[in-house]
Amino acid sequence: MDIKLTSYEKEILLGKHGEARQLAMEIIVKTARALGAGELVEVVSVQAMAHFGSLHIAGRDWLEKLACMGGKCSVPTTQDPASIPFETWEEMGYDREYAENQLRLRDAIIKLGELPTWSCTPYNQGSVPRFGQNVAWAESSAVSYANSVLGARTNRTPAGFAICAALTGRAPKFGLYLPENRMAQIKVTIEAGYLNDLDFNTIGIILGKSMGNKIPALYGIEQSVSNDNLKYLGASAASSGSIALYHIDGITPEAIMHDPFHGKKSEGEFLITRKMLDETAASMTTKFPDEPDLVVTGCPHSSPSELLKISELIEGKKVKPGKGFWIFTTYETEGLLRRMGILQKLEEAGVRMMVSTCLVISPLVGSYKTLMTDSGKFASYLPSEHNVELIYASIEDCIKAVAE
Ligand code: F3S
Repeated sequence: MDIKLTSYEKEILLGKHGEARQLAMEIIVKTARALGAGELVEVVSVQAMAHFGSLHIAGRDWLEKLACMGGKCSVPTTQDPASIPFETWEEMGYDREYAENQLRLRDAIIKLGELPTWSCTPYNQGSVPRFGQNVAWAESSAVSYANSVLGARTNRTPAGFAICAALTGRAPKFGLYLPENRMAQIKVTIEAGYLNDLDFNTIGIILGKSMGNKIPALYGIEQSVSNDNLKYLGASAASSGSIALYHIDGITPEAIMHDPFHGKKSEGEFLITRKMLDETAASMTTKFPDEPDLVVTGCPHSSPSELLKISELIEGKKVKPGKGFWIFTTYETEGLLRRMGILQKLEEAGVRMMVSTCLVISPLVGSYKTLMTDSGKFASYLPSEHNVELIYASIEDCIKAVAE
């Protein structure tokens, strides 16, 4: 299939903008052909991945090769979490060879001009595309947030491919870049009374497991829903299934501007009840009775308001000897909370801040066998990733279980 290219895109393909961009454009054009895309879209930002836990040696060599070729990003490019906490990996006992590979990846992305944000929440770090703008984001929870909450457009960009989009500012025009592929297909009604924070994770788990590749439109969520809860809903739906876009009646941009079904009939209806939420939440726990060694929270990375809530809940308590409590977050949130004096209090209580990293794409260090989390995405991945037992519960219950 012939791809329609602009004169700038043709120049890149001819090597007029450097060898690395030329190689990236060749890959993009070949991919576009394979996907049946007739042209490319211009993307305003990229969210890329350079975690050694997923990219391995081949991915490290790929990024180093592009850096050696003089490649430079042409659009702002943020970075998913790394496979080690950069500041504490030695003290925590991460394997040196593994860490050194991650450090090489860090050097490569900095040479390429990527922003070393190391987080799955780029939208909390200043990368906020406007409604209708195209981006090429990789991390599935961020993809869901960009499409659903911000109304931007992106497919789930493969890790090794995101750098091609970053170097050229282009991606094949297919899938969710096309407005006709963004309309809702299934009507989901939530009749469950008051929804707490954990419920939004559980709604995501239910959607991921039951919608297949259909786009849901949700009815029954209050206007006051927080962005953090939408973050969790999308992350859980993307990890327990493959949902990259959802609409919420009257709340998400495309369901404010028009009927999410674009006047078409829903292909089906689905009801989420309180009973279903509670049963699904219980089904995520793999160990009874629930005796955790380690609480992990911040998947996607915790925001300042979540850390403030945890600091209130843990006030006057300490993590019990032999137990752990890890919070995954960004450098920015950590710095903000440190300036407030809150972080010091959390650390005094025995909480460990895990900055710049993620437990799913890094080894679990320490002798922890039973983990407890309030995150639907951690709950979906951790038992198989780390061969551990898992307890899924609210943050209030997580704190009660390991601190006194
Ligand atoms: Fe972020 Fe890792 Fe969770 S990348 S969304 S903390 S699995």
